[in-house]
Amino acid sequence: MEEKITYDFDTVISRIGTQAEKYEARKQYYGTNDVEPFWVADMDLPSPGFLVEALRDRVDHSLFGYTEKDPTLFDAIIWWMRDQHRVEVAPEMISLSPSVVSSISMAIEAFTAPQDQVVVLSPVYGPFFSTVKLHGRVPADCPLLIDKGRYEMDWQAIDTALSNSLTTMLLLCNPQNPSGRVWQADELLRLGRLCKLHGVILFSDEIHSDIVYAPACHTSVLTIPELRDHCVMAHSIGKTFNASGLKSSFSIVPNAALRTRLRRAHRRAHSDNINLLGKVAITRLFSPDGAEYKRQLNAYLKASTQEVYEKLDAVDGLKPMCPESTFLVWCDFRDHGDWSTVSNRLIKEARVALSGGTFFGPAGEGWFRINCGHSRSQLLPAVDRICALFG
Ligand SMILES: Cc1ncc(COP(=O)(O)O)c(C=O)c1O
Repeated sequence: MEEKITYDFDTVISRIGTQAEKYEARKQYYGTNDVEPFWVADMDLPSPGFLVEALRDRVDHSLFGYTEKDPTLFDAIIWWMRDQHRVEVAPEMISLSPSVVSSISMAIEAFTAPQDQVVVLSPVYGPFFSTVKLHGRVPADCPLLIDKGRYEMDWQAIDTALSNSLTTMLLLCNPQNPSGRVWQADELLRLGRLCKLHGVILFSDEIHSDIVYAPACHTSVLTIPELRDHCVMAHSIGKTFNASGLKSSFSIVPNAALRTRLRRAHRRAHSDNINLLGKVAITRLFSPDGAEYKRQLNAYLKASTQEVYEKLDAVDGLKPMCPESTFLVWCDFRDHGDWSTVSNRLIKEARVALSGGTFFGPAGEGWFRINCGHSRSQLLPAVDRICALFG
């Protein structure tokens, strides 16, 4: 049955001159502004009007001083996690954070020591590697295996990495960026049990968990009772509501001792609060209105990502993965030449800026990620240009 969409995701809204990284940094990364940007993982689709109204109301007040952490903000997070993700949260478990990467950074500081190993399952969002390295810790990469066109965990490699006495944390991208793989409850339980066995903290970055395509269904690590005591979950309004510029995120840590350690790290960095417009945004978005926007957005993006997947899949030598979540399509271009040849052709001939695979670790060599969070009138002609180029 077709989902009813009343939000307007089709009108193209120019972001030129708004300091949008995706547009303004094209020259820096791609050598030209003459490329359409399908790289940075934010969408060119508008946030809901009711958010804009709530922000405008607050801005109209004209005073922007220091703010408290109002209980309504925590109530909204608790409601969203229960209603959308079947997660029960008590207010004291929630820590505010400017961004999910800040939470990752603070968790590394709180739970690991210099020279420790942090397990990552690549290809995965680049800062999983870089943040670990910036803290003087060592990423222990356990590349995912491809089976029938889908990523699977390499249990043997994970077990070996977790058994190493220097390993103290595992960073999981749940669901997975760049591939859109949705991890199943049994996989999370197995992974979490291994972490527990080896005394390793499981950090689950669930920033993409609100954009998931049925029949796939997101499982938060927090819904698995056995895992709650040794895991940290981070989430944000950034992806779902295209609000990353508001820098408003939070983590949930059920275990009180771990929470105290994480909070201390946040306090040391003065990063235990968020800006007041972010507070307004979370409170307004984590609501039944936000749930309806999310439902419609998911319907739009499911059709777009599916169509992009099918177009790419029809081209000889292109091997896209069918995304179960996220507005991203991950595609293997290796049959069409080495990375720099393909990259040059994408930029110069197809005039598109895609995310190059090595941003996601060595396992991404020869792959590219296409951001489908655009109106279809912008996205599909660009994908047609890619297909024509390699077809
Ligand atoms: C898996 C993942 N985590 C974190 C982020 C960044 O989130 P934030 O801006 O809240 O740090 C991204 C952005 O693409 C992401 O894909």
